[in-house]
Amino acid sequence: MVDYRKEILDVSSFPVEECLKLVNAFNKNFPKKDAYMFLNEESLHIMLKQLDMIKYREFLDGLNISTDLTNKAFDIIDSIGSYGLKGSKRLFSGYNAERKVINRKAKEQSRSKHYYANDHNFSKVNNELPSEYENKIICADSSEFLKKLPDNCIDIIFTSPPYNFGLDYDSHNDTARWNDYFDMLFAIFKECIRVLKYGGRFVVNVQPLYSDYIPIHHITSNFFIQNKMIWKGEIIWEKNNYNCKYSSWGSWKSPASPYLKYTWEFVEVYCKGDLKKQGDNENIDITAEEFKSWVVAKWSIAPERNMQEFGHPAMFPEQLAERVLKLFSYKNDVVLDPFNGAGTTTVVAKKTGRRYLGIDISEEYCKTAQKRIDEADLGQLSWFD
Ligand SMILES: C[S@@+](CC[C@H](N)C(=O)[O-])C[C@H]1O[C@@H](n2cnc3c(N)ncnc32)[C@H](O)[C@@H]1O
Repeated sequence: MVDYRKEILDVSSFPVEECLKLVNAFNKNFPKKDAYMFLNEESLHIMLKQLDMIKYREFLDGLNISTDLTNKAFDIIDSIGSYGLKGSKRLFSGYNAERKVINRKAKEQSRSKHYYANDHNFSKVNNELPSEYENKIICADSSEFLKKLPDNCIDIIFTSPPYNFGLDYDSHNDTARWNDYFDMLFAIFKECIRVLKYGGRFVVNVQPLYSDYIPIHHITSNFFIQNKMIWKGEIIWEKNNYNCKYSSWGSWKSPASPYLKYTWEFVEVYCKGDLKKQGDNENIDITAEEFKSWVVAKWSIAPERNMQEFGHPAMFPEQLAERVLKLFSYKNDVVLDPFNGAGTTTVVAKKTGRRYLGIDISEEYCKTAQKRIDEADLGQLSWFD
């Protein structure tokens, strides 16, 4: 026998007649074995087993009562974060029993979750970022500059390294031999891991160089795993770049050597020491809608359109940085980008009320980043303009 899940809504601010109308209509329209409602003094009790949310929304919209009440009655159910699915219905109780894996937690433990990272020796003592580096854009080589920072002083790193594609950067040679490239990258990543707080996140946007058959995302993942970082997950950044449809076939219409094409990039997420990040609830700035949409790890976001204006050949769009920062960090956290380019990460950090430190080897890109930051205000997210 599966129990109902109970939700209770305070309806003291609504006329009793309206509440009764909702209860009676609901109980008439939905079978009791799925869900029912009743009023108890000034509370609406909603007993739930399963519900088709689209039908529920349509039902509420058809009622001639205050939309404030119908919206509240909808949101209280819609915001329930864990449920199962059966056809078009959400299952609110008993859905665990329907899972194919019984005793999931115990089995996870016996398999040894993220076994590769469990014998880390990261210190749990976090430090403050020295105030001289707070909210700064620094023109330097990150492999040198990062050595000045104390251990465990950064909450989140979001970056996209130079990809070694042969792009025309201002001060960086983008065509190194691959071994030298990875040596350079990993020396900087090692420092980044050191300066990251315990429980901090390292989020890296990478794109393989398909034409050289170099899976940068896999090679960097190996590096992070060898350095005891927990792989939290991978986001597909779908750029919908269909230009690639019309060029480079490899062997045209032949299995000899067809060339695979991609319209997306990868965003890899790693955690230092702990999957859970500490923070105050009042510093959470992601909305329920954003959360529901962004935890689905395929993000359709157009590439940055203003690269020419900013004079940088390989920027990511502000929207990508906004999602990463709001999903994986709290307001007031310290954000680092060691390959800050024209400053997208740091600009979005400022706009979303976080502290930041951006480092780039090019003086010109640092000037652009500083200018963008000077012009940015809290809450002003440019894609809503
Ligand atoms: C892919 S771009 C980052 C662009 C940035 N995400 C944006 O939206 O503007 C990589 C940047 O790394 C910088 N860079 C390369 N080597 C560096 C190093 N050793 N230290 C610091 N910055 C470096 C390059 O100048 C370039 O701006």
